[in-house]
Amino acid sequence: MSSQSRCRVCAGPLAEFFDFGRQPLSDAFVRPEDFADEFFVRLAVGICESCTMVQLMEEIPRDRMFHEDYPYVSSGSAVMREHFEKLARRLLATELTGDDPFVVELGCNDGVMLKAIAEAGVRHLGVEPSGGVAAMAHAKGIRVRTSFFEEETARDILATDGRADVIYAANTLCHIPYMESILRGVTALLAPTGVFVFEDPYFSEIVERTSFDQIYDEHFYFFTVRSVQAMAARFDLELVDVERLPVHGGEVRYTLAHAGARTPSEAVAELLEDENKRNLAAMPTLKGFARNVERIRDDLTALLRDLRNDGKRVVGYGATAKSATVTNYCGIGPDLVPFICDTTVAKQGRLTPGSHIPVREPAAFADPYPDYALLFAWNHAEEIMAKERAFREAGGRWILYVPEVHVV
Ligand code: SAM
Ligand code: TMP
Ligand code: ZN
Repeated sequence: MSSQSRCRVCAGPLAEFFDFGRQPLSDAFVRPEDFADEFFVRLAVGICESCTMVQLMEEIPRDRMFHEDYPYVSSGSAVMREHFEKLARRLLATELTGDDPFVVELGCNDGVMLKAIAEAGVRHLGVEPSGGVAAMAHAKGIRVRTSFFEEETARDILATDGRADVIYAANTLCHIPYMESILRGVTALLAPTGVFVFEDPYFSEIVERTSFDQIYDEHFYFFTVRSVQAMAARFDLELVDVERLPVHGGEVRYTLAHAGARTPSEAVAELLEDENKRNLAAMPTLKGFARNVERIRDDLTALLRDLRNDGKRVVGYGATAKSATVTNYCGIGPDLVPFICDTTVAKQGRLTPGSHIPVREPAAFADPYPDYALLFAWNHAEEIMAKERAFREAGGRWILYVPEVHVV
């Protein structure tokens, strides 16, 4: 782990604007015998005073987070499966129409996006360092390389497969601090008319909705149009399109091309103007965000304590990586939330990192229904509330904490 006072993209000075204190690795679900070995970091976030890139103040060794037992499985949500299938169909119809096109995906996870590409018989390669999920992709007939993407990987791929028409990364680029190596690799691997498309949580949305739980060890960068534009320019790339996405609490899909290769769309200038109007990079805006985070913490813990004192049962729903920030920063343990149910088999039977709340299978939710369910997977609210309609009909209530603490 290394702390930094300089921007990981441009080496400009960083101004810290929030410190969540000591936090565990968000996906390190533990057994009691692992407690002594739990790894903690200071989770703090800052903005580069030069290029405005928002980033963590500490860098965590990548092998501690992404390894054989990395538990996050992308296909767990029906909405996300549909989201990625739709993108695959779009890429097949637009960017991958030439003679023998080739697409590379960074962080392909269990193959949720590449499945449709493979089925269409299009040449592809997933680059996925986490062995367990990479094996799931392989089992779906997807060509996977189990390694971290970086400049050397890109040069290797170039030597064996040639240039890529599309390089794609969903919820992955923001996980990678070593951006210089990544973008050098992308520049080398990308065909002259190719595109590098990536989608990640949008910092403007995080500030607007106070979705502070998007800040955890794995999310190193929090992109904006302004910071991505500046970053692209450093590597002879250009931001040519942006698209807002409703998934994962509000994301942006950025499209980069070699500088001068494509004409930027109107959407880029429009979203940039919106960011400027919001004063997104100004310290008073960021300090306002910090105050909102503290208010949510106080309101949520007060509500949970009141419910406990009234003898109400509260159960957590979705042991998300995001929930590690909520439980550890707010001091929520099994005394307030006795268990969290989650569909991920690898998380079940374990305890949440740091806060040590047991994770149980989804069937435990209805056995019997609690009075309240604290929805940690709020980014999947529509899908989950539709699936759990019977809970609400039986008189149960959902607790949400974004954009403020409320009960529905
Ligand atoms: N793309 C999937 C999605 O959107 O659901 C998976 C996202 S998951 C949150 C992030 C993935 O990035 C993990 O599977 C992790 O192993 C992978 N990853 C981390 N560092 C990487 C790197 N340097 N190159 C490629 N993949 C990486
Ligand atoms: P994510 O917010 O990072 O996508 O994580 C979602 C978590 O919530 C993941 O651990 C799976 C879990 N989950 C459920 O338990 N039930 C569901 O219906 C959905 C969509 C997710
Ligand atoms: Zn910078």
